[in-house]
Amino acid sequence: MERKWWHDKVAYQIYPKSFMDSNGDGIGDLKGIISKLDYLKWLGVDIVWLSPIYRSPLADEGYDISDYYAIDPRFGTMQDMEELIAEAKKRDMTILMDLVVNHCSDEHEWFRRACEDPEGKYGKFFYLRDKDPDGKLPTNWRSYFGGPCWAELPGTDKLYLHVFHKKQPDLNWENPEVREEVYKNIRWWMEKGIGGFRIDAIINIKKPAVFRDYPADREDGLSTVHNMLREAEGIGEFLGEMRDKAFAPYDAFTVGEVFNEKSDELPLFIGENGYFSSMFDFSAEIYGHSEKGWFDAKRIDLDAYKNCIFGAQEKIGDIGFYSTIIENHDEPRGASRYLPDEIRCESSKKALATVYFLRRGLPFIYQGQEIGMENKKIRTVEELDDISSIDAYQVAIDAGISKEKALESLSYHSRDNARTPMQWSAGKHAGFTAGEPWLKENPCYREINVQEQEGRSDSVLAHYRKLIALRKDPAFKETLVYGDFEPVSRDAHNVIAYVRRGDGQAILVAANFNTEARQIALPADADGKPFRGGRVILSGGGSPVIEDGTLHLEGLQSAVAVLE
Ligand code: GLC
Ligand code: CA
Repeated sequence: MERKWWHDKVAYQIYPKSFMDSNGDGIGDLKGIISKLDYLKWLGVDIVWLSPIYRSPLADEGYDISDYYAIDPRFGTMQDMEELIAEAKKRDMTILMDLVVNHCSDEHEWFRRACEDPEGKYGKFFYLRDKDPDGKLPTNWRSYFGGPCWAELPGTDKLYLHVFHKKQPDLNWENPEVREEVYKNIRWWMEKGIGGFRIDAIINIKKPAVFRDYPADREDGLSTVHNMLREAEGIGEFLGEMRDKAFAPYDAFTVGEVFNEKSDELPLFIGENGYFSSMFDFSAEIYGHSEKGWFDAKRIDLDAYKNCIFGAQEKIGDIGFYSTIIENHDEPRGASRYLPDEIRCESSKKALATVYFLRRGLPFIYQGQEIGMENKKIRTVEELDDISSIDAYQVAIDAGISKEKALESLSYHSRDNARTPMQWSAGKHAGFTAGEPWLKENPCYREINVQEQEGRSDSVLAHYRKLIALRKDPAFKETLVYGDFEPVSRDAHNVIAYVRRGDGQAILVAANFNTEARQIALPADADGKPFRGGRVILSGGGSPVIEDGTLHLEGLQSAVAVLE
């Protein structure tokens, strides 16, 4: 596999609205981010992905862009952005922007002009259909955020397609002019000195040749968008063109938000000369997904989590490099999702961090994950901000679920869980703002915050810092970055263990999520002889022991060891 500059790096996702507010208006901003670059550097971060900060009505919190060339005034100015890029560079860090081009905002000039003249140039930027006199919609597709995918094009007798919110009209990628506009924008940002892009919702850009109905999967008579995506052939032409015309000339780093890729597409997406540098491994995040809604999703336990991440590693093999996560701005907190209530504590958070982080792939840390932030309890529907959560609540109620149960499923799944203010200190509003935060902070900030953990060598934060340092340590880097992945004790209940094998080095990564001690038999060396001993190079607490071919882990203990 060809080596790339980013393979041995560590990435960090910032959700700007909730990261750090510099001017007391309750909204995180670019100046706030600049003020925390030293913190990120101290942690060991190299690549920083910013969720969208472009001009936007924020109907979907910035994933609805009304000007791809401007910074939203709530986040700052273009000058602030340039300063951020420069300040990051000074610290050997690079910035990734979020590329949101399946759709724009209905407040984008293109859309406004499409409304004025649907038959003109900009009408062709979108998917427009004539309204049927009987009111029948062109298709029965249900948007990701609820309701039909079709809405009236204001002031006209036409409808437009939106697979997300109605304020996010889909751009018509079949139109070469649309594609050229996208590439022009990518090049413009690359010229500004960013390192590349995280690519939003990209699988949706290709629609099927024929728009048709699919069997309804809920009482509303609509059908999930996934059905139409399954029939959409030929996305590769667009993605290959985007790579060649926009990314390749800059050697941009790109990471795709790819759900539902077809099974033979992996090498095309992230293999040698793939469309993207990397894509997220969402195997655990999508586990248990139900078309009925969040209320019906199956919860994941640690054995299922293990199967997901091991399965993904086996699927990717040497084809390419996944980007690995336990949470992001669309998912609940990893510590709450994967760790059952009874065992959620600093030790188990460190154990989870260890096994997710040292897999093969580029690790991404989502803001607050490094201190073990947790979900917040959602008590009323009024406190929700996220449009998809509001819809999910209604879907549950419509399906006859009690309010209590509906709220419970939101506390588990809601995107707001990850969007509460970053917890910098135990001070007012978690040290995030001097004003009133746009979204209420999670009360757990009093115990879980950066300031408290910075000063403590056994904190979750300290552990993340050690994990990052370990992955970069010249003595282990080759194995931890490029080594093969091989499951160990696969069937052991609530134990997640694997070995990373490099040239002449084998590193065991193991976590015991049981509250009682467990023994893990060491795997064999390259000649098939079982390893007998090893040297622990990182532990999630206590002193794990290796003797007579066995690693002994206390309850909730984790360890990384070079085998001998
Ligand atoms: C992606 C984003 C999500 C957004 C959606 C529509 O999934 O991560 O936050 O709502 O795309 O842009
Ligand atoms: Ca602000």
